[in-house]
Amino acid sequence: MSRVALGVAAVVAALGVAFFALWPTGSRPRIDATVAVREALADDRAGFTRALAPRPLSFPSDHGPHPDFGTEWWYYTGNLRTAAGRHVGFQLTFFRIALAPGAVVRASAWATRQLYVAHFAVSDVAGGRFHAFSRGSREALGLAGASASPFRVWIEDWSAEGDGSSARLRASDGAVALDLELSAAKPVVAQGDRGLSRKGPEPGNASFYYSFTRMPARGIVRLGRETLEVSGEAWMDREWSTSALGSGVEGWDWFALQLDDGCEPAWVTIAALQEDAMPDTLYKRLGGYDAIAAVADNLLPRLTADPQLGRFWQHRGEDGVRREKQLLIDFLCASAGGPLYYVGREMKLSHRGLGINERDWQVFLGHVNATLDHFKVPSQEKSEVLGFVESLKKDIVE
Ligand code: HEM
Repeated sequence: MSRVALGVAAVVAALGVAFFALWPTGSRPRIDATVAVREALADDRAGFTRALAPRPLSFPSDHGPHPDFGTEWWYYTGNLRTAAGRHVGFQLTFFRIALAPGAVVRASAWATRQLYVAHFAVSDVAGGRFHAFSRGSREALGLAGASASPFRVWIEDWSAEGDGSSARLRASDGAVALDLELSAAKPVVAQGDRGLSRKGPEPGNASFYYSFTRMPARGIVRLGRETLEVSGEAWMDREWSTSALGSGVEGWDWFALQLDDGCEPAWVTIAALQEDAMPDTLYKRLGGYDAIAAVADNLLPRLTADPQLGRFWQHRGEDGVRREKQLLIDFLCASAGGPLYYVGREMKLSHRGLGINERDWQVFLGHVNATLDHFKVPSQEKSEVLGFVESLKKDIVE
């Protein structure tokens, strides 16, 4: 234990309370509006892509933004020391929060669908001071944004830029400033299941998540009149998601350690709401497996018999349609939070090349509505099902 305790350079973050609340804002006007982590990450936002299944990480593009997802972050933390051993901790994090899915439609140069927020903090361990600042801006007029190649994320003059596995971090507010060069000493780590990090019981309660767990860092920290030359080790976390937190989840605490034997353990505690405050899953509210199977039983014959849509199933034979019905049941049950594992293909792959157009989609939605009405599905559950179906449209309609 003592070896661990001595060798530890701890990087600790708590995402439990709020992203942007209660964060000192330095010389800038104080922002009192808050966005709770739970709200930002739990919202099941129709029109955004969700993290459903592992997919290979791809660089440099994954270093850059993923606007199809509701939220993401670039999260740098680390421990630094001067040559005389003075200890300084730092954090520089950038968050992207989508306000709406899709491309900007208004002509105004101010128009945006992306908001960026950043936190910058320096802990002066010997001085017993913690300096923390935040800022936010819109992705318009060059005020804030991110790109993959070259890699860059910035809000005004706070930025991280480089090639993704290395980065120069720059931030300053009044008398406190940071200018560091980071480079990855170890290969990228795909967290969770090949980069898919589950954070709740339902599919989609997950993020895509990779880390650089040990990044030698070197540069300058300014604290008032002192300019400190520092070096040390940083940690970089990268996550993007939509509805990462399930409805029963309050938030999480995250701990990561850099041990002197070269290991970097990290662990996360997901905090659940009180049992009685946890709403039932959509799966349960719809009536479970039998009710969802009955929906598929009712829907598929409507589709195959439809004059506009029938062509898609004409040459598939009974076996093919039966197989597809079972996959549809599994997919719907798993997506609604049921205890089933969907083993079929992703929506994009299974519908690729079928030539499903906008008109087909509208006719399809008409049948989905008719089926839900047939079973008198209550309006709340009906709108959740339709919202989910709508979120798949971009993968299905060509
Ligand atoms: C206009 C809308 C749609 C049409 C015309 C359509 C048509 C089809 C067809 C023809 C297949 C068989 C593909 C093959 O075996 O090669 C298929 C597969 C499938 N579809 Fe759809 N589909 C539509 C929308 C949806 C939606 C909204 C969902 C989910 C809620 C869905 C779920 C599935 C599933 C789970 C499969 C099986 C995937 C696999 O074979 O691994 N489809 N669809």
